[in-house]
This record gives sequence, structure tokens and C-alpha cells, in this order.
Amino acid sequence: MINRIDHIAIAVSDLDSAIDTFINLLGCDRSAVAIHEVPSEKVRAAFIPVGQTKIELLEPLGDDGPIAKFLSRSGEGMHHIALAADGIENETERVTSLGLTPLGKVSEGAGGKKIVFLHPRQTNRVLVELVEPKAHH
Ligand code: CO
Repeated sequence: MINRIDHIAIAVSDLDSAIDTFINLLGCDRSAVAIHEVPSEKVRAAFIPVGQTKIELLEPLGDDGPIAKFLSRSGEGMHHIALAADGIENETERVTSLGLTPLGKVSEGAGGKKIVFLHPRQTNRVLVELVEPKAHH
């Protein structure tokens, strides 16, 4: 079941400066920010809570990962919307049967959560991520 936006992600070139911008905008404390390195995706990700959802700031690690490529192609800006998907394998199967295209298999993302991305071609050029709400260890 999908019933919530888990986070909205923004690609940034300088994570620390972007964290400052968004904690100032939201009026929250830096201690609320969770930072994860995800070497498999070649990113450093900061999650800033906003009520039930979060803003994710993505900074490239190195210059050949997906976020580095996104920045060099499009510059900073909105990168993806993540939907909380209870039973992510079943939801991935369901949306695949509707004609959407998962980019790879369900795998481990930031914070050890199960995630999968869907090709933006079937979702009006918006990259969509499904994320299992609870961490699996
Ligand atoms: Co994300």
C-alpha cells in the first residue's frame, strides 16, 4: 500500500550549505538532520524531517555517480519523489504489471531501507522512488 510521501529529494552540489539553507527555511535544529553515506549510489544524503515527511538533500560522492551526472546535465534541483510503500516487493510487482519500469531490483538504500526507483518515462518525467517505511537489518 502506498499512502504517503516519504521524502522529496533535491540534488545539491554543496551538502553543508544546502543543509544550512533548509534548516533555516524550516526553522529546525541541525540535530534533527540525519546524514547517510551511500557508497553504492555514490552519494551523501541528508534527511531533514518536515512533519511526517522529509526533504532529502543529495550530494555526489566522486564525479561518476548518478547524482554527479544529474548535476552536470541539469544542475541543482528536484531529483525525485519517494513514496512510502508497505510491502515494497508486492508494490513493485503491482506497478510493473501496470507498465512501469523498475530501475533494477529492490535494494538497500540510505539507512538500510529497501528502495527501488521507477523509470521517469512512464511518470511524466518525474523520477519516483518506492521506499519501505521501516528499516530492515
Ligand atoms: Co530518496
